[in-house]
Amino acid sequence: MPKVMILVGTMYGGALDVAEQVKPLFEKAGYSVDIHEQPMVGDLVSNEGDIALFCVSTTGSGDFPGNFVPFVRHLRDQSPSLSSLRYGLIALGDSSYGDTFCGAGRALDALLADHGATRLGERLEIDAMETFMADDAAIPWVEEWIDEQQLKVV
Ligand SMILES: Cc1cc2nc3c(=O)[nH]c(=O)nc-3n(C[C@H](O)[C@H](O)[C@H](O)COP(=O)(O)O)c2cc1C
Repeated sequence: MPKVMILVGTMYGGALDVAEQVKPLFEKAGYSVDIHEQPMVGDLVSNEGDIALFCVSTTGSGDFPGNFVPFVRHLRDQSPSLSSLRYGLIALGDSSYGDTFCGAGRALDALLADHGATRLGERLEIDAMETFMADDAAIPWVEEWIDEQQLKVV
């Protein structure tokens, strides 16, 4: 059974909640799903057909949540190749922060691309100013993502 690795970066639990809410959608599509609350680059070791989904919020001024910092540090310091990685990205933020809106999600996307990973589809950016419950935006997005990217395996 192929696997979806959901890697979470969160300060207050919103991104983790998104991960938990979308998990059954991938299970229904034929995947086993692991949610990584303390993500490490080693979690990305994948077999053909596996995918990663990043659910990452922004804190400070466009900064990564603390639990996600070791992942980013490892990527920057060790520069592993991620050329076999296919991923999706859900960024949580708040547009009232202006220029740093979804800064962590955007920086992560650029970093993954730099390391050769392939994003499937567009990045989802969830704005807390517009969407009170992030799940309300994430669930339909994931349903559409599975459909459009033809990720269903059952
Ligand atoms: C102290 C603090 C700093 C924040 N800084 C940013 C920011 O720079 N850019 C942004 O888009 N959102 C920012 N946010 C908003 C959060 O990213 C947003 O509320 C998100 O939904 C939180 O998700 P989480 O519960 O997974 O941490 C900030 C929130 C707080 C409390």
